[in-house]
Amino acid sequence: MNENWIAPSILSANFAKLGEEVDNVLAAGADIVHFDVMDNHFVPNLTIGPLVCEALRKHGVTAPIDVHLMVEPVDRLIPDFAKAGASIITFHPEASVHIDRTLQLIKDCGCKAGLTFNPGTPLHYLDHIMDKLDIILLMSVNPGFGGQSFIPSALDKLRQVRNRIDESGFNIRLEIDGGVNTSNIRAIKAAGADTFVAGSAIFGKPDYKKIIDELRAEMAL
Ligand code: DX5
Ligand code: ZN
Repeated sequence: MNENWIAPSILSANFAKLGEEVDNVLAAGADIVHFDVMDNHFVPNLTIGPLVCEALRKHGVTAPIDVHLMVEPVDRLIPDFAKAGASIITFHPEASVHIDRTLQLIKDCGCKAGLTFNPGTPLHYLDHIMDKLDIILLMSVNPGFGGQSFIPSALDKLRQVRNRIDESGFNIRLEIDGGVNTSNIRAIKAAGADTFVAGSAIFGKPDYKKIIDELRAEMAL
């Protein structure tokens, strides 16, 4: 597995042939599959649930599936997603009354656990729970839709979280989600991210290997 992970968001895939789409991005060099779960309550859109995650596993997908829960409440769905084959589960602090308990629930279900921050969500939610985190997901758009523009203030937030992770000494990945493309991925990596979600930038292109190679080349510069 690469040190820097490319995580195509299947929100921008062709859902009429999802298994094939996921096979294709993985064959093209993607590291993990980013799986956006929206409930038309926490965010103004409705997407996919555990059944679809399970279907991807049954289809033969073995790569890590990174489930980004944009739902409220979160806890009831966590065991379902773990059973369905999720590898990583992240949730938004606003969607859980007991953040520590939700993180522990994810870990007890055998998955890697993470907290997700909207652009306007303060970082104080990281206080006291760093030891329970495998990943921190920073949103660089407001959640709900693919194809939005990267919000520049996310770079400063990335730097702040990178410092907190380094100071903590814990092994926590730093993921960025929203508006990532070949023109900004270099600055995003320089700000401290190591896991890069990209939806429209990848699935909007005809050649997945070419765009993933381009994203990696930009990162390496
Ligand atoms: C937005 C989702 C993102 C989205 C990213 O709520 O969490 O994962 O699909 O799509 P792009 O890369 O097109 O901004
Ligand atoms: Zn996402």
